[in-house]
Formats: sequence, structure tokens, C-alpha cells
Amino acid sequence: MNLTDKTILITGGSSGIGLAFAKALSKEARKVIICGRNNQKLEKVKEEFPELEIVQCDVSSKSDVKSMYEKLRNEHPDLNMLINNAGVFKFYSFLKRNHSFENLEDEISIDFTSPMRLIDHFLPDFLDKSEAAIVNVTSGLAFVPFSMAPVYCATKAGLHSYTESLRYQLKDTSVKIFEMCPPLVDTPMTEKMPDAPGFKKENADELAATLIKGLKKDRYEMRPKASSQLFTLRRLMPSRAVGMINKNNNKMEEVFE
Ligand SMILES: NC(=O)c1ccc[n+]([C@@H]2O[C@H](COP(=O)([O-])OP(=O)(O)OC[C@H]3O[C@@H](n4cnc5c(N)ncnc54)[C@H](OP(=O)(O)O)[C@@H]3O)[C@@H](O)[C@H]2O)c1
Repeated sequence: MNLTDKTILITGGSSGIGLAFAKALSKEARKVIICGRNNQKLEKVKEEFPELEIVQCDVSSKSDVKSMYEKLRNEHPDLNMLINNAGVFKFYSFLKRNHSFENLEDEISIDFTSPMRLIDHFLPDFLDKSEAAIVNVTSGLAFVPFSMAPVYCATKAGLHSYTESLRYQLKDTSVKIFEMCPPLVDTPMTEKMPDAPGFKKENADELAATLIKGLKKDRYEMRPKASSQLFTLRRLMPSRAVGMINKNNNKMEEVFE
């Protein structure tokens, strides 16, 4: 896929993987726009990277998404690529019940419903473009559940399945559907997590370089490093895969207590 003619919206572009994608893609694409909830974080990014455009938007708010869509449709009618990256990662213990059901619903809304809502707004315009693209950021945990983050893993597995259906339905159109399934990456989301044997935290800028290479080569499902191993192990030895991901749960529980 050609990147030079792309005007790109990245959700959750104010830190971690989204920011790394924004920095790297701004060197390749026509324009990169990022959104996030916290305006101070966005303004700070804008100070450091003035080439990026910023929009405040909570992707789990129907009205915020509608306003952002209308604003961008007016100001950037050439917008032709969406990267659904914004996400949160929460631990829940079914035994301790230290959560309310609303916490689970909020996580589902951000990690699963929002990408579908954004696609619902932008896809009709994208279908009129000569070439457009959607990238959904899932996770290696879409293939093997980490039991302490049950909702997160379920949303990523759901988004993976949705992405495959979307790609299949749109296969004869000008809209290309990509999925990036990152392994464990060093970002604010994972800062409390220790490196685990076999699961070293990867660098977000390296992941961004992998994304760009994959987009240029039309690699529709990108599973870098440990994500690829999890994908294969899940198919060959499903219970071994689940055991491997969950073997350090006790240590993790202490970290997130
Ligand atoms: N880090 C990893 O190991 C890893 C591995 C696999 C997959 N992923 C996925 O990669 C994506 C990015 O994760 P990350 O590690 O870069 O996390 P991060 O550093 O915590 O960044 C998350 C970004 O999403 C934004 N965000 C969160 N909720 C939002 C909402 N409701 N509306 C708009 N923006 C929102 C945050 O900004 P505000 O807080 O200001 O809104 C921030 O810009 C997520 O989808 C995550 O599931 C991460």
C-alpha cells in the first residue's frame, strides 16, 4: 500500500504505541492526526511534534466520536486511513470481586465497541476513495487469554474476529483492512509489569517500523515476535499456551494489588 497519499487518524496517539506510530507515519504520510482524552497530554505531544494534528476525543463517548468525525470530515476531506489503537488494560479477580460491572463495561466500550463505532462513521467515506485503510490494533493476547485481564483478552479476541470478517466483506473494495497484534511492548500501559521469561518488553519505535514495513507490503495480519509464537502455540498445543501465559500470575497479582 502507498503511504504518501494517506491522511491518517490514530486514536490514542498521545502515548506509547500510538505515539510511536504517529511519529513514524508522519515521516511517510501526507498528514497524521492523533486523538486522546487528556488534552494536556495532547498539547505536550504537539509542542514536541508540531507536525502532528491533535483532537480531543474520548472514543467511548458517542457524542465525542460524532463531533470528531464531523470536524475531520470538514477539515480533512482527504482523510483515508484510520488506526484504531486507543485501549485500556485492566486486571480483575473474579474471587476478590474488587470491581464493579461498570468497570468491565467501560473496558469493553473503549477496547471493542469504539473501534467498531469509528469504522461505522468513517467507512462510507473511505469506500469513495481510490485507496483507503483501516488498522485495528489487537494483541498477542487475542490468541491466548491472560486470565488476570479477562475482559481485555476477550475484547482483543473479539476485535480480531471482527477484523477478519470486515476484511472478507471488503475484499473487492478499495479499503484495505489490517490488523497489528503487538507482543508485550514497553509503554505507560505496561510500566508496572515486569519482564517475564520469554516475554521481554519490546520497543514501541521498533513496532512502528514493523507496522510501516507491513503496510507497504500489504501484510494484512501482523504478528511480530512473541505474538507469532503465541498464535502458533495456540494452534498446536492450546493448553500449553494458556499455561505458559498464566504461569507468573501470582507475581503479577502482587504488582497490581
Ligand atoms: N503495551 C503493550 O504491551 C500492548 C500489547 C498488545 C497490544 N497493545 C495495544 O496497543 C494499544 C496502545 O497501548 P499502549 O501500550 O500504547 O497504551 P498507553 O501507552 O496506555 O496509551 C494508550 C493511549 O490510548 C488513549 N486512550 C485510552 N482510552 C481512551 C479513550 N477512551 N479515548 C481516547 N483515547 C484513549 C490514551 O490517552 P488518554 O489516556 O489521554 O485518553 C493513550 O494515548 C492498545 O489498544 C493496547 O491494547 C498494547
